[in-house]
Amino acid sequence: MSSLLNTPAARQSLQLLRDLIEERTGNFFSDPNLPLLALKLENRLAELGLLTYLDYYYLLRYDPHSDEEWRQLETAITVNETYFWRESEAIQAVAQKLAPERRPGQTLRIWHAACASGEEPYSMVLALLEAGLFAWRDIEVMATDLDRRVLEAARQAIYRQRSVRLLPRNWLERHFEELPQERWALRPAVAGRVSLRRLNLVEEAEFARMPKCDFIFCRNVMLYFKEERIPRLIERLVSALAPGGCLFVGTSESLLRFAPALEFGECGGSVFYRKPDHG
Ligand SMILES: C[S@@+](CC[C@H](N)C(=O)[O-])C[C@H]1O[C@@H](n2cnc3c(N)ncnc32)[C@H](O)[C@@H]1O
Repeated sequence: MSSLLNTPAARQSLQLLRDLIEERTGNFFSDPNLPLLALKLENRLAELGLLTYLDYYYLLRYDPHSDEEWRQLETAITVNETYFWRESEAIQAVAQKLAPERRPGQTLRIWHAACASGEEPYSMVLALLEAGLFAWRDIEVMATDLDRRVLEAARQAIYRQRSVRLLPRNWLERHFEELPQERWALRPAVAGRVSLRRLNLVEEAEFARMPKCDFIFCRNVMLYFKEERIPRLIERLVSALAPGGCLFVGTSESLLRFAPALEFGECGGSVFYRKPDHG
């Protein structure tokens, strides 16, 4: 446990900091997880030469240049684990079945709302390419994340072997260039099909800039949020869906108790939540 945590006052100021982080980013550290938060902050406090959590709290809350510090903090606290072809049934369901049937003749919009370093939206593009969909449909793939560092990695689109391990070998050879040291660069023609930008799922105003989407993937991020925050987030995601559009969450995240207004759907072994056509 961090040495900063060994007094009741230190614990109290860490709780204050934890609540501020939750309010701004949604990411929540319960009391038993406070030592984990302390660990994630340890290096940053040392770099800044700060001796208490309260000093850091004041910096984040009141310093006129706190924006840069929030960037660092967002990188420090988020869990960015992801890889190509993760929970691929949902991606295949969209590419093979749901997208081809959806609103023929109109632009299809797919949004990956917590894309980390890009493996999820790029998997979608690969699946759509392999299904031949780009040849006959206008498709926009948008990808957003809170953490600017992972967005930069997504822009570079160079991945290690571990990240591409589940992709079929012939896809790897077709769509990536092999680099030294078992790294793979996604071809610009594929990477260029995804537009990347920062979007904080907690900030309501940011949703206003999103066009209505046919498919939203918001996977493996709500599990880091407080349960009380989820209904509001779902409401916003649903408001970004076009009527009849579908929301996909991670396989370990269920919305059944939060989103009674959504229809439950299943396709190719994946489940999703559909906004009613009249919604
Ligand atoms: C575990 S990754 C999931 C990546 C991908 N969706 C997947 O399932 O493989 C969680 C991502 O959520 C992002 N995240 C956390 N809080 C966020 C927020 N408030 N707004 C947007 N993204 C957030 C993190 O930066 C991280 O990249």
